[in-house]
Amino acid sequence: MTATLATDPPMAPLLEPVTFAGMPLVSRIVMAPMTRNHAPGGVPAPAVANYYRRRAENGIGLIITEGVLVGHLSASHEDTVPRMTAGPAEVSWRRVIDGVHDAGGRIAAQLWHLGSLREPVDGLPAWTPSGVHEPRRPAGHAMTVADIDELLEAYAEAARVAARAGFDAVEIHAAHGYLLDEFLWPYTNRRADAFGGSPARRAGFPAAVVRAVRSQLPADYPVIVRFSQFKERAFDARIADTPAELAEILTAFADAGASALHASQRRFWEPAFAGSPLNLAGWAKRLTGLPSITVGSVGLTRDFLRVGGPETVSGLVERLTGGEFDLVALGRILLANPGWATHAAAGRLEAIADYRKSHEELYY
Ligand SMILES: Cc1cc2nc3c(=O)[nH]c(=O)nc-3n(C[C@H](O)[C@H](O)[C@H](O)COP(=O)(O)O)c2cc1C
Repeated sequence: MTATLATDPPMAPLLEPVTFAGMPLVSRIVMAPMTRNHAPGGVPAPAVANYYRRRAENGIGLIITEGVLVGHLSASHEDTVPRMTAGPAEVSWRRVIDGVHDAGGRIAAQLWHLGSLREPVDGLPAWTPSGVHEPRRPAGHAMTVADIDELLEAYAEAARVAARAGFDAVEIHAAHGYLLDEFLWPYTNRRADAFGGSPARRAGFPAAVVRAVRSQLPADYPVIVRFSQFKERAFDARIADTPAELAEILTAFADAGASALHASQRRFWEPAFAGSPLNLAGWAKRLTGLPSITVGSVGLTRDFLRVGGPETVSGLVERLTGGEFDLVALGRILLANPGWATHAAAGRLEAIADYRKSHEELYY
């Protein structure tokens, strides 16, 4: 056991209560959104409530659900991905939310539209900004302004359902190469109208989604926006080459009513731009003044808790306490280790399993 083990002061700030975007949270640890396909017909199965409750019982301050489809045909045809629609899905979400609240946790719904990454369906082209595909994907339908208006209403309806069901916040998924990110990315957005061109214009539709969602919710209701540089199928892709370009995009989100930003990157310790050690969440916070969430390879192996260095708990907490970002999201390590936070805090390394790809098959 070395001086940087979890039970040492380095871990403590992660487990302190905090108020984030107006939400009181029991810790600064977030469960990152992860698609799990346990919602036949778009309705979360009973196991979903147990799955999230278990994480809330174990020190996770804020749970962000897996991507939940907005109620529009173009969002996805995947039958096992949950939906944010009135009726059975809403009823089931209420049970999920009650379980998390009973355990002292908070839960945000991630609103999702897959854009061109929707699985191909005969005769139904994917909705995209310009019909331009991501590399190796079939060409899609270039959305008209009428389509844009239709989707804004779909997002607004999803926000209404989420708030009515009792979610503490919503997160708008504008990352990883899905529809809203396809608008942000110059490769897929070749539009000549008001929704294409400069970074601010490319942010026009995603920001309109933020505005549409915000318009359905009380002024103090938290609306988080998740964004990334990388795409699921293009790790080197970028929506902004400079902090100034990123500022144009994120300012559009802030002006539209975003309360917080969730900056998705693959490794939290990597600088977002040359010339500064700030990571993407650090830049998001600096450029907008909004609170931010970082994510990316936190705790994947037990070495994270043992070794001092930028990619370990001490490096992470140094950034957190330095104010670079406000919350820390964990994804893959929570699949097999719902109790990661409490085990890590108590120094019970033997109770933690290092992440393996096969953990994605687990569901408990
Ligand atoms: C199985 C799986 C499903 C995921 N599904 C989503 C999703 O629905 N929405 C999303 O924004 N990110 C999704 N992600 C990305 C995670 O939220 C997270 O950003 C990523 O796993 C990196 O964090 P980690 O290194 O802690 O795992 C998914 C990741 C995994 C492993």
